[in-house]
Amino acid sequence: MAQQDDVFKKIVSHAKEYGFVFPSSEIYDGLSAVYDYGQNGVELKNNIKRYWWDAMTLLHENIVGIDSAIFMHPTIWKASGHVDAFNDPLIDNRDSKKRYRADVLIEEQIAKYDEKIEKEVVKARKRFGDSFDEAMFRQTNQRVAENVAKREALHNRFSEAMNANNLDELRQIILDEEIVCPVSGTRNWTEVRQFNLMFKTEMGSTADGAMTVYLRPETAQGIFVNYLNVQKTGRMRLPFGIAQIGKAFRNEIVARQFIFRMREFEQMEMQFFVRPGQEMEWFRYWKEWRLRWHKALGLGDDKYRYHDHEKLAHYANAATDIEFKMPFGFKEVEGIHSRTNFDLSQHEKFSGKNIKYFDPELKENFVPYVIETSIGVDRMFLSVLCSSYEEQALEGGDTRVVLHLPAALAPVKCAVMPLVKKDGLPDKAREIVNDLKFDFATHYDEKDSIGKRYRRQDAIGTPFCITVDHQTLEDNTVTLRERDSMEQTRVNVADLHRLIHDRVSLTSLLRKLS
Ligand code: GAP
Repeated sequence: MAQQDDVFKKIVSHAKEYGFVFPSSEIYDGLSAVYDYGQNGVELKNNIKRYWWDAMTLLHENIVGIDSAIFMHPTIWKASGHVDAFNDPLIDNRDSKKRYRADVLIEEQIAKYDEKIEKEVVKARKRFGDSFDEAMFRQTNQRVAENVAKREALHNRFSEAMNANNLDELRQIILDEEIVCPVSGTRNWTEVRQFNLMFKTEMGSTADGAMTVYLRPETAQGIFVNYLNVQKTGRMRLPFGIAQIGKAFRNEIVARQFIFRMREFEQMEMQFFVRPGQEMEWFRYWKEWRLRWHKALGLGDDKYRYHDHEKLAHYANAATDIEFKMPFGFKEVEGIHSRTNFDLSQHEKFSGKNIKYFDPELKENFVPYVIETSIGVDRMFLSVLCSSYEEQALEGGDTRVVLHLPAALAPVKCAVMPLVKKDGLPDKAREIVNDLKFDFATHYDEKDSIGKRYRRQDAIGTPFCITVDHQTLEDNTVTLRERDSMEQTRVNVADLHRLIHDRVSLTSLLRKLS
């Protein structure tokens, strides 16, 4: 675990050093859980968004996009349940004055039991070597059995308390488990209180009678309240989907793990409207299809798993998360929810407007059911970054840091480098850049030794480096160096466009999905 923490720290500092992610307002000592994307970060982020957007809107002829405003009528958040129930349970330690999420403290306690169990298994595996029967050991070892029993009891008690919204019980669990504040080391806890995660602000001047409005905590509601506009103006028929990418804001109590949990973040959400009764079929479709989208990136199939929700929100009849193996464990990156007709029905009730769909085949009016796919851009960014980062030992004792980014997502696709800064090589290199730049993000680099220039491009994940040397002036060939294998091949300048396009285009990625 300590080793994984080290790797994660290195990834965070690499992200800063190479212009991917900066702490927000850094010269003012930063703003907690808010980050800025740098020159390479914004390109990687845009490529992720483009991959998602094209996969949704180009590959599905019944999905269109919208871009709704961040500010919306405040009653929307009353109807959606966010005003009353978008809460986290918080608890303060009186000695350190630090604030925590009560549910996170308990989840960490559950994780401690898991760690204890795993430790026993690892120890036993070492002791017994090849003859180790893990399943048998887990069943029969007394210490493992005790910890499994404690973990299960805690898990059940915790789930019940959360479902019943029982704040006293959450506090009692923290006391019974003897959970201490990581800062003060004491158990001097306050009561548990609910904390609403929405940011509020005022719209209009006070003299006009200002209205309290919220920064949206999800983009989905902008889709729900527009669904009939899109359906009518686009003459859409069920089933159809509406996709949206945009900022969302949550006043997270515990903000950590870099861009994993932010107060300002971006979501890519798609609401798919279906006839009542067909939602489970479409839920299964989207569950499978979204995982395919992730896996097509080639980050490693073993890095994903589904987490099906056993306990469902009152409006959902199925829900699953796609989790990704981050350096700090498997974590949710995307949620797929069958939300029934809850949101639309609530908006019908609170707005007093009829927002039923008329089904021309069934000749019936009804409120459609909805399957939602909701993924955080920043979490996706983090998963791509973490799984691409490698410190590689090279032959001869040298090392390099390389980002094995999926080529279609890489911020820079190729870098053109004259071997030396004389003899007309820079001019020839510029000529190549001027040809490639219309289709690919292309860098020109003539500073430092060629080895150092390669390392710089490796560190930002550039799939190709093109080196112009004296031979280029004679036969119009260059060396094309591939990032991951570091293999160099001599190719004709006229073939560069095709060779690069085959590897870096989004089209090749999208083709895997259709
Ligand atoms: N409309 C449904 C919805 O918002 P959610 O599970 O709360 O569902 C969806 O959020 C996704 O948004 C998550 O899977 C995660 O990727 C991302 N997300 C949520 N809160 C976030 C935060 N504080 N920072 C970064 N990403 C977040």
